Amino acid sequence: ELSFKLADHPKLPKDKILALIVLDGWGEANPDKYNCIHVAETPTMDSLKQGAPEKWRLIRAHGTAVGLPSEDDMGNSEVGHNALGAGRIYAQGAKLVDKALASGKIFEDEGFNYIKECFQTNTVHFIGLLSDGGVHSRLDQLQLLLKGTVERGAKRIRVHILTDGRDVLDGSSIGFVETLENDLSQLREKGIDAQVASGGGRMYVTMDRYENDWEVVKRGWDAQVLGEAPYKFRNAVEAVKKLREETKANDQYLPPFVIVDENGKAVGPIVDGDAVVTFNFRADRMTMLAKALEYEKFDHFDRVRHPKIRYAGMLQYDGELKLPSHYLVSPPEIERTSGEYLVHNGVRTFACSETVKFGHVTFFWNGNRSGYFNSELEEYVEIPSDSGISFNEQPLMKALEIGERARDAILSRKFHQIRVNIPNGDMVGHTGDVEATVVACKAADKAVKMIFDAIEQVGGIYVVTADHGNAEDMVKRDKKGQPQLDKDGKVQILTSHTLQPVPIAIGGPGLAPGVRFRNDVPDGGLANVAATVINLHGYEAPSDYEPTLIEVADN
Ligand code: 3PG
Ligand code: CO
Repeated sequence: ELSFKLADHPKLPKDKILALIVLDGWGEANPDKYNCIHVAETPTMDSLKQGAPEKWRLIRAHGTAVGLPSEDDMGNSEVGHNALGAGRIYAQGAKLVDKALASGKIFEDEGFNYIKECFQTNTVHFIGLLSDGGVHSRLDQLQLLLKGTVERGAKRIRVHILTDGRDVLDGSSIGFVETLENDLSQLREKGIDAQVASGGGRMYVTMDRYENDWEVVKRGWDAQVLGEAPYKFRNAVEAVKKLREETKANDQYLPPFVIVDENGKAVGPIVDGDAVVTFNFRADRMTMLAKALEYEKFDHFDRVRHPKIRYAGMLQYDGELKLPSHYLVSPPEIERTSGEYLVHNGVRTFACSETVKFGHVTFFWNGNRSGYFNSELEEYVEIPSDSGISFNEQPLMKALEIGERARDAILSRKFHQIRVNIPNGDMVGHTGDVEATVVACKAADKAVKMIFDAIEQVGGIYVVTADHGNAEDMVKRDKKGQPQLDKDGKVQILTSHTLQPVPIAIGGPGLAPGVRFRNDVPDGGLANVAATVINLHGYEAPSDYEPTLIEVADN
């Protein structure tokens, strides 16, 4: 019988009010003009650095430190918040899918066998993000999946692409579509009827999250399932090139299109009897489509048709909801997260962000689990995000509202832990708008200040850190670290996350004397934060957690 009882920390007191602040997309990098955090006025975060090395340090937030396949993998919010909340490093979706493909096991398990039933008679559809970003999906995994599907008898294949430009450079989608088209034409030479059927930019089509805007999913549904879209093309490379030129949309915001035959008829609507695979491994931006595909009862938009399909996700996206019920690879089994432990020890928790990051501090934090562990002890507050805009138009986002809600929660003295995600650096950083990202960073810093002031008033503690880098470097760099130029001689703006480490700082009037960062965990990463926080709540961390970052010096 598993016990969640934590041992008392020998030196640290309980019942302090602790603010746990995650700045999204806030890494540490050399100061230059593409470092928006450096350029922005960020007095609060700047002042924390003076506390190094005892109260401020850097921790790893990318690659193997967060369970990704290699050190070339940038961090992201899913794996970052998983590590922060779970206190251990789990092999993540990207890696689990790699393994399952390499061993061929993916083709033997239940999910694949389920979709295989219709290979002889019907179409197999693949829907997902087409890039090598490695955050939500990877093109090489799709390629292996296509190959394996054909080897196992599929005769008719349709791919519904979502162009990226967010985890990879804007404009790179053309190259990815060319690669895919080339693969599909090779399949056609072998007598397989294989084509791209529809597409659209990930931020405008399909990949919304946390129910911010169902219209996004509907646009995708119309193209993918109904075969209807405002733009029609004969092939996908032409579609992406023309739409970029003519609508001036970037990869992220490409309008939806369908591929049509010589008679103008969509080549790949999804119909009864077909199989569908959503090939993203990451959950947050596939859950809404998964619901539309899977749920019998559904009222978020008019589906017009709800085809009877065999649907499998690359992974199961929500373990609590068991969504989808069929999947190709089992997700990481993240259990006994810090949130669950703390609740069992009576630690009352308040978690808050705005919609676009709400699931990060709740769902991802709790090991990809929806809902409360104990609703008597927890309160999760979602502040509605602006929707239908790109965040460079509103770079302040809801930072101050999050700051205010956190402040009120602190001053209410009802909670021991007040946990927030402040999204600005990340969400605005992803737009590639350097000026707006500077404004965003300043707003995030102000929100931190607001929370610190409240912590000061109640004699509390703060821990401030980040989930991965983004705003601290907005330019693609060559091997020497110099900004890279494109063929027109313009610097290539980096919309994606980075490989940079992130800061962590501790402080506040409630921090017990002598508490400082140890110097014997130099490689510490996000997974070390959970034990640190558990200590600051007055408990010893579970023995299998990554070690705490702090010690208590005798003075
Ligand atoms: C997104 O989904 O917006 C990006 O691909 C990754 O951003 P996040 O990991 O910060 O959410
Ligand atoms: Co991001």
